[in-house]
Amino acid sequence: MRAYSLIAPAKINLYLEIVGDRPDGYHELIMILQSISLADRLYLRPLSVDKIRLHCDHPKVPRDHTNLAYRAAELMFQKFSGPTGVEIIIDKQIPVGAGLAGGSADAAAVLAGIDLMWDLGLTQGELQELGAQLGSDIPFCLQGGMALALGRGEVLSPLPDVDRLFVVLGKYRSLSVSTPWAYNQYRTQFGHTYRQDQAARDMRHQQFSSGALLKALTQLAKGTNQGDGKVSQSLHNDLEQVVLPAYPQVQQLREQFQRLEGSGTLMSGSGPTVFALAESQLAAERIRDAVQAAFPDPDLGVWIARFCRNGVQVV
Ligand code: C5P
Repeated sequence: MRAYSLIAPAKINLYLEIVGDRPDGYHELIMILQSISLADRLYLRPLSVDKIRLHCDHPKVPRDHTNLAYRAAELMFQKFSGPTGVEIIIDKQIPVGAGLAGGSADAAAVLAGIDLMWDLGLTQGELQELGAQLGSDIPFCLQGGMALALGRGEVLSPLPDVDRLFVVLGKYRSLSVSTPWAYNQYRTQFGHTYRQDQAARDMRHQQFSSGALLKALTQLAKGTNQGDGKVSQSLHNDLEQVVLPAYPQVQQLREQFQRLEGSGTLMSGSGPTVFALAESQLAAERIRDAVQAAFPDPDLGVWIARFCRNGVQVV
């Protein structure tokens, strides 16, 4: 049995609409998710003792069952009573508590890596089903690329790749937003809007089309719609309505991104990462430099990444 090295890309939300409550306490969503080249690297190797060991030198990443990657290994043990123990080393590059699905990406890599290490031969669908038991974003992290995500976020339809685009991401390192908090706030403040007119929301759910966004992104990638606002009009995240007022720093960062470019700015997931899309590396670097000049705060991390076609991959 050999060791494996995997990359686990982060995701951004190009669209997130909350369309209803679910009996399981989650929310019914319409999302468009996109993998980006900002990725963690994981090393998995078999252990002779029947144990899970997790190492990560990032101070905010737990090494026990509170880490989703650890729980992914536990789930594999539970389902397949593994022939070996597993050592997991996480080289953390994706900011933590950021709305970029870093924890879900790591868990996805652990599922895929253990499948290979124990030679289980699981299909992508079977891995995604296991992933969905642990977290709503994990099936997407396995699949990657661009996808429409419905249900809790685990019902995926792949969308055509627009992989020439760049994204500039900004996050205050010391700031993280609790995802359950963000959804609960939304439910408390805005739940009445979808509850009052659930029929209209259901209809929207069925009829949602990603066409306008895809067209605008394709044009942006070809350099034919810079600055005409079409991408901006199609990007949307309902959770901004609760997160931005509660975190004025994030609101200001988003406003700065918005001022700098014409290609579209949004908060990813439950935040607090905000991002701007750019049609070239040069445009991305200009945005990064201008954001850093406007907010010369060592706590602010700014990253440039590319859209990418893959989810978890063995390297
Ligand atoms: O599925 P996951 O564990 O990643 O979700 C984290 C939290 O986000 C959930 O506990 C829930 O509070 C919220 N959530 C939700 N509806 C979704 C996805 C997540 O309310 N569709």
